[in-house]
Amino acid sequence: MSEWLSPDVIASAPGRVNLIGEHIDYSQGFVLPFAISYRTTATLRRRSDQVIRIRSKQRIDDVITASITELAPGTHGGWERYVLGVIWALEIREGIDIEIDGDVPLGAGLSSSAALECAVAVGLNEMFSLGLNKKELALLTQKAENVYVGVPCGIMDQSVSLMAEAGSALLLDCRDLSTTLVPFDLGASGLELLIIDTQAHHALVDGEYAKRRQACESACSKLQISSLRDIDISALEARKELLNDEEFKRAHHAISEMARTLQAVDVLQQKDFASLGALITQSHISLRDDYEISCAELDCAVDVALAHGALGARMVGGGFGGSAIALAAQGQIEEIKGAIADAFRSAQFTEPRFFTSLPSAGAQLIKKLDR
Ligand code: GLA
Repeated sequence: MSEWLSPDVIASAPGRVNLIGEHIDYSQGFVLPFAISYRTTATLRRRSDQVIRIRSKQRIDDVITASITELAPGTHGGWERYVLGVIWALEIREGIDIEIDGDVPLGAGLSSSAALECAVAVGLNEMFSLGLNKKELALLTQKAENVYVGVPCGIMDQSVSLMAEAGSALLLDCRDLSTTLVPFDLGASGLELLIIDTQAHHALVDGEYAKRRQACESACSKLQISSLRDIDISALEARKELLNDEEFKRAHHAISEMARTLQAVDVLQQKDFASLGALITQSHISLRDDYEISCAELDCAVDVALAHGALGARMVGGGFGGSAIALAAQGQIEEIKGAIADAFRSAQFTEPRFFTSLPSAGAQLIKKLDR
């Protein structure tokens, strides 16, 4: 096993938090995520045969072995499918040893899977001199997750993990993957973004995610538009009778969320954090009432944060559990954490975990050794 210690390439990629623009990446909307400081590292080494070996630094004796010739979408397995999916999507034909390490909280809705995919993709791109740019890598890692793993995610998580830069949120236009960096320096304004992992993992997540996508697609086909990006709220209201109640509500969320995201960029540029907070809270209400993907734990975290002085709070990510965020003055954070922990205890919810993070750098090549 000592050969694991002499890598060819080491690459890392971060998890993410989405400030605003939730569940609109697959409707060709705008999203405003940033990379968090928690990262996944992939250490890669070429082999001279067709064997793939994968292990994680946390369980070093647990080596998963596969053959490069047998990679096929839909194969059963655990977390290693995210790695194998990227190898498959990048059409690698040679054997590789891969060791994974990292500190992105698992199951918290902070995109540990995108961090894993993107760290591996950046490593493979370098090791095999594939010459793929970040946009191509985002599309290929999304393909790995959609087709190989079978999760119908949009393009946001992989894009931000690859393209983010420290100190900024990333405005991503999910129609063409163009990006604009929006400076996001909360500390200078005495603010902090608290991440509350509710530790709730309600079943249904994948099925409900796919249903939301389908409702948006059927709304588009009835409205005869190619995506919800092509219509504004007044046009939606005017054509309400074409849609059923579910399609109307889902479309209402998506269209209003796209508008909120662009407003958030404006107020962020003016450092108007009170307005940013209000938009963040409106996003939560829309996700809760129109998109119907919140849950008791997320609503509790948001309500308690707002009651204890947060400027804004909302659920983030896919929904039905995972994390919420609260934007608050630094001096208010401990009180908010304590109040949420108390409320969770009273409601007999699982104890929440708290994180915080500055906007951090996207995927990076850490080391390439010439042999
Ligand atoms: C998950 C998906 C993303 C996005 C979010 C919701 O994180 O992977 O593509 O759709 O949910 O905004």
